[in-house]
Amino acid sequence: MGSTGAPQNTAAPNAPFFTPIQSPPAGSALSENPPTLFSPLKIRDVTFQNRIWVAPMCMYSADNGHLTDFHLVHLGAYAYRGASLTIIEATSVLPNGRISPEDSGLWTDSQIAPLKRVADFLHSQNQLLGIQLAHAGRKASTCAPWSTERGRAITATEDVGGWPRDVMGASAIRWGEGFANPREMSQQDIEDVIHGFRDSAKRAVEAGVDVIEIHGAHGYLISSFLSPISNRRTDSYGGSFENRIRLLVEVIKVVRSVIPAGMPLLVRVSSTEWMEESSEPDSWKVEDTIKLAKLLPALGVDLLDVSSGGNNENQRITPFNDFQVGIAGQIRSALFKSGITNLLIGAVGMITEAEVAKAIVENGKTVNETKEGEDGKVEGTEGAGKVVEIEDEQGAKAKADIVLVARQFLREPEWVLRVAFRLGVKVQWPQQYNRGQFLKGSKV
Ligand SMILES: Cc1cc2nc3c(=O)[nH]c(=O)nc-3n(C[C@H](O)[C@H](O)[C@H](O)COP(=O)(O)O)c2cc1C
Repeated sequence: MGSTGAPQNTAAPNAPFFTPIQSPPAGSALSENPPTLFSPLKIRDVTFQNRIWVAPMCMYSADNGHLTDFHLVHLGAYAYRGASLTIIEATSVLPNGRISPEDSGLWTDSQIAPLKRVADFLHSQNQLLGIQLAHAGRKASTCAPWSTERGRAITATEDVGGWPRDVMGASAIRWGEGFANPREMSQQDIEDVIHGFRDSAKRAVEAGVDVIEIHGAHGYLISSFLSPISNRRTDSYGGSFENRIRLLVEVIKVVRSVIPAGMPLLVRVSSTEWMEESSEPDSWKVEDTIKLAKLLPALGVDLLDVSSGGNNENQRITPFNDFQVGIAGQIRSALFKSGITNLLIGAVGMITEAEVAKAIVENGKTVNETKEGEDGKVEGTEGAGKVVEIEDEQGAKAKADIVLVARQFLREPEWVLRVAFRLGVKVQWPQQYNRGQFLKGSKV
């Protein structure tokens, strides 16, 4: 109350401008015993008010790697409407790791300030910001998809800001039609990429980002190292499974070493490159992802974000097993069977309906069993909440701990609020939007 007894429109704490306090954050359940989808999840020191995250989406709109007002509005719109984490698009750790000349980047200090502006805004709304750190490898230097015919790749040449003569990959194998010819990366190139991830992660922390995701999917650099089809190297980064995952492991280690112990670290992979039906003798398959997943908690990774594909022109998607969501469930259950309960699983791909999102995470209750090491820091391997598997009467099990959604947010930025309404869960709305709340009986 003010001195006159009038109610105060309280300011959000530590915000660089006046904005009303959002407490609890939009998207928090207000009703008792909400479904798991609207139950909080704590990973290391960070608490998410629900299980719905915005997946990274390239917008091909950055200004020489710098985020702009477009990104502030675009990312802010999802965040203040209640997504418990909004992940910034693939952000390149080196200039030659951008997919297009207009991709975002964190290879230089001047890119910190515009990122901090986005982080400050999300924090002023009591919401959390993630960033996906990436290198596009042999898929770099292409034109924005809308400038090409039916989304076909077209190499971005020097005259439109591209770098086709500086595209590099695990091996000198072109991705396919429309892509530049990559050079096989030297040891120095590999070191530059690892240092790029390290320095970009430091910059992300400096800017106030809350969560980091390493992009190991979709045929970009790390993903191309994982696959025996695109990685034909004969040195310690090629050949055996252990060698092909080496770059990813080294990137994880270096990123984990420079970010706070309490900060969640995510890894996105293509769980299969969909080449099972090809004539290739070997490819990256779900079994390889399971083998990799088992190694991740000890490296300090908290969540595996399960995507697929993107490494081969002639991939054949056979939507067996409920597409990527089913694969996420397969990986989660394999980890349980091996007694690994400290790697959370993110499901992504064609999740558009409230009931579907609810079912994916239902019964996957998570308790936080974070332990402190001797120096008082949260220990890497114990960081993630321990997931406790609970079956319902029908024997249904959670397929994932988090749902990540991309395109549905492009269609409905308020998707979290709609999902809550459709499930009959009362959630906090952004204060300024309270008068717009969906009404009982309305069809949304
Ligand atoms: C416009 C757009 C841009 C995308 N950019 C990225 C990206 O930067 N990094 C990434 O890992 N995936 C990217 N994706 C893939 C999405 O994160 C997501 O995995 C995919 O769209 C499937 O989820 P959905 O069915 O909910 O859209 C992008 C997808 C779209 C539609």
